[in-house]
Amino acid sequence: MEKPNKPIGIFDSGLGGLTVLSSLAKNLPDESFIYLGDLARLPYGAKSPETIKKYAQQIMDRLIKEDVKAIVIACNSASSVFISESSYHEIPLFNVIEPGVKDALRHTHSKKIAVMATVATTSSKAYTKSFHKSDQNIQVTEIACPLLVPLAEQGWINDELTKLSITRYLEPILESSIDTVVLGCTHYPILFNDISFVLGEKVALVDSRLELEKLLRSQLLASQEGSQRFIKIYVTDMTPQFKGLVNKLLGDVKVDMFEVINL
Ligand code: DGL
Repeated sequence: MEKPNKPIGIFDSGLGGLTVLSSLAKNLPDESFIYLGDLARLPYGAKSPETIKKYAQQIMDRLIKEDVKAIVIACNSASSVFISESSYHEIPLFNVIEPGVKDALRHTHSKKIAVMATVATTSSKAYTKSFHKSDQNIQVTEIACPLLVPLAEQGWINDELTKLSITRYLEPILESSIDTVVLGCTHYPILFNDISFVLGEKVALVDSRLELEKLLRSQLLASQEGSQRFIKIYVTDMTPQFKGLVNKLLGDVKVDMFEVINL
C-alpha cells in the first residue's frame, strides 16, 4: 500500500495535461499533485516512439525523485508508448488511452467510433488495439489532427480558423454513422467547443478524465484527510502561451509552486 500524503505525478508535453490535472485536482481534493510540462520539447505527437520514450523516462525519473506514489501519463502520445506497462520502477503507471476507450464504449450505440489524436498516437494504433481487446466488433477510425496541438497551445479557442482545420480533418466522418468521438490528445478538450460545433450535438465527445479519476480513486490510498494538499507545476520552458492559458485551464485550482526546471 502506498504511504499517504505522497503526491501523484502527472506529465505531458505542454498545456494539454493541465486538462487532466484540473479535473483530478477538483475531484480528488485530498490528493497532492506534481505536474511536469515538457514545453521545451513540445510537440511529442510529431516525434518517433523512441524519442517519446526517452523523454518520458527522463520525466518519470524526475517525478520519482519527488517521491510520487503514482504517475499519470497525461499525454496520449506518450501513453501509446507505455500502454502495456502498469508500473515504472515499481511506481504504478496510469495511461490516458484505456480510460478514454472505456468511456467511449459506454457511449456508443452504433459501435462506430472515431479517435482524434496526434500522428504518434494514430500510428501506434494503440486505440484500435485497446478497443478490440474489449470488443472486436467496434469499428475504429483513427484520425491524425497535427494542427490542433499548436492551435490549442496558441489559445485559438472558439476560433474560425480552428473550426476550419477541424472540419478539414473530420470531413471524412461527418456523414457517417459514427456516434462517438474520442478526444485522443489531452490538448483537445481545450478545443471542445470548436470540435463539438463541427460534429454537432448527436455525436458524443469523450476523453479519459472521468474513467481515469474513478481508476485512481479505486486504486490509490488517498492522502489523510485534513493533511495539507499541495499542487506543484514544473515546466522545462516558460512560454507566453503557457503563461496566458494556465490560469484559465486550472480555474479555481490553487497552485502552490511554479518552477522552470532542467531535466
Ligand atoms: N497532449 C499530448 C497528447 O495527448 C500531445 C501533444 C503533443 O503533440 O505534444 O498526445
